[in-house]
Amino acid sequence: MLSGKIALVTGGRGGIGRAICARFLREGATVFAADLTKEGTLSDAADGSRFVRLDVTSEEEARATMARVDQECGKLDILVNAAGIEIEKTIEQTSLADWNRIFAVNVTGTFLASKYALPLLRKSGSGSIINFGSYDGFIADPGLAAYCATKGAVHALTRAMACDHGPEGIRVNAICPGYVDTPMLKNFFRDAGDIETLEAAVRGVHPMRRYGTPDDVANLVNWLASDEARYASGQLWVLDGALTAQVQQMRL
Ligand SMILES: NC(=O)c1ccc[n+]([C@@H]2O[C@H](COP(=O)([O-])OP(=O)(O)OC[C@H]3O[C@@H](n4cnc5c(N)ncnc54)[C@H](O)[C@@H]3O)[C@@H](O)[C@H]2O)c1
Repeated sequence: MLSGKIALVTGGRGGIGRAICARFLREGATVFAADLTKEGTLSDAADGSRFVRLDVTSEEEARATMARVDQECGKLDILVNAAGIEIEKTIEQTSLADWNRIFAVNVTGTFLASKYALPLLRKSGSGSIINFGSYDGFIADPGLAAYCATKGAVHALTRAMACDHGPEGIRVNAICPGYVDTPMLKNFFRDAGDIETLEAAVRGVHPMRRYGTPDDVANLVNWLASDEARYASGQLWVLDGALTAQVQQMRL
């Protein structure tokens, strides 16, 4: 579905990002995996992606990353903004440094990568940006206040970017996953206590009785990146196994 396309995935060595890179490669794209380290949050990172070291909070590195893509490929068709961090605190527990850090990665990172990708996406003629929101941008998990706020900001930014760049043939969407089995989720469970009991309880509150896999997310990203999604833009695509479709009482 992506033959001849050039893609760049920030957070490309994380749980979801790596699955996206692998899927894009299988679909025939040239893929740049941009992350802090080659291993990201996972140790066995090898695939056919071109690794580029990128801290998404750095304007200089965002500019240099896109310059490298331009030099090697001359255009960009797909940008996936999957780099993200989570801080498990209420606002009273959150320091200003925590707050600034999570906004720098989740929101400013999306802004900077998109800003410097846009000239290359214009050259493509049919660019697609896929941001990472979360169901936490609509409703709140307890103890994730700053994270929820960043995801709400990404949702609003997604709509604004879609309006501004639609006339240039660039589509912008956000995927808003529920629980996805990645290092980020494992950290969340570990911090909360007994992992196995918690995992079973979380599966139980999902109507589909499981949570998502990185490949579940990569399937939707792949479609949004492809020309089949040519009329899909400006939307927040919730992917949560019906978790947020049910009324709270049904969970009792
Ligand atoms: N896992 C879930 O349950 C879940 C649910 C909803 C949304 N999301 C979102 O999906 C995205 C991917 O999350 P994941 O679960 O794969 O997490 P993850 O922790 O496995 O991967 C995140 C990746 O981002 C990279 N990263 C962190 N800071 C960076 C920076 N400054 N510059 C560049 N890269 C940086 C990390 O190195 C890591 O490889 C995130 O935006 C996350 O908020 C995840």
